[in-house]
Amino acid sequence: MSIKVENLSFSYLQSTGERVEALTNVSFSLEAGAFVGVMGPVGSGKTTLIQLLAGLRVPTSGRIYINGADINGRGYDRNRLRQTVGIVFQEPEHQLFAPTVEKDVAFGLKYSGLDPQEVTARVRWALATMGFDYDKIRHQSPLALSGGEKRRVAIAGVIVTKPQVLILDEPIAGLDPSGRDNFLRFLTQMNQAGTIIILVSHNMEALADYTRHLLVLERGRLVDSGPTREVFIRLKQRTTGFHGETGAQRIATRLAGCGLAHPAAVVTYADLLSALKQELTGGGRG
Ligand SMILES: Nc1ncnc2c1ncn2[C@@H]1O[C@H](COP(=O)(O)OP(=O)(O)O)[C@@H](O)[C@H]1O
Ligand SMILES: [Mg+2]
Repeated sequence: MSIKVENLSFSYLQSTGERVEALTNVSFSLEAGAFVGVMGPVGSGKTTLIQLLAGLRVPTSGRIYINGADINGRGYDRNRLRQTVGIVFQEPEHQLFAPTVEKDVAFGLKYSGLDPQEVTARVRWALATMGFDYDKIRHQSPLALSGGEKRRVAIAGVIVTKPQVLILDEPIAGLDPSGRDNFLRFLTQMNQAGTIIILVSHNMEALADYTRHLLVLERGRLVDSGPTREVFIRLKQRTTGFHGETGAQRIATRLAGCGLAHPAAVVTYADLLSALKQELTGGGRG
């Protein structure tokens, strides 16, 4: 599994006839096993980018190759794309519509060609993966569930196709801390099982702790990309523009003012702890 994005640009046509350029000349590639974060201010093009990756919009120019095939090329099988790339939208709980949880989750398999027994097995698996007891939840109305439960059902409806690429648009916004940690651990498990994860988030700690690579968008342009730690260190050194700093980086800067810790190397709270430990046991570099 590989994804290659070449000189991707997209502009929206507004009702006034004016064009708004949302993405400009974005290029990157992702290999099998990638767990990549997408960050940037509101309006920087994150949602537009992932909609293009999922084939929900057609680029104004540029190409997207999945396993070497141009997904907007003639003859590309859109049905195959839907089975390969799963996308969880912002606030996915608003998309639940079926009378029962089971029917809602099974909808994703409507065109899969699986027989009814396989569909049931998959739905059971997807709901169990999202932490539900299948027999208890299957006949319930999605509308009767709590916000967090609705979101988990909506996500079950995406992973039920076992996509090789799972794209999520701010999936942890609005979750409570334990829901957030459970969800991020679940993404890690999916990733370890071979799924490429593309996570759009404003949560710097989540990005620092869970992703291995980052793409940074600003006004539709890819302004930085690379291994997560390196990108956070570079962002901190930026003097203008988007400043995606982790809490640990902020604390390290304050501590540096008191002659403690080494801010350049600290990105996560785990880094901060080990820097402090070293400092307190006298092993610090002064
Ligand atoms: N449906 C739309 N019609 C017109 N402009 C849009 C539409 N969706 C997004 N935009 C514009 O495109 C730019 C990128 O938006 P978006 O991809 O939603 O950014 P992000 O997800 O980073 O907040 C913004 O300037 C936004 O106003
Ligand atoms: Mg968005």
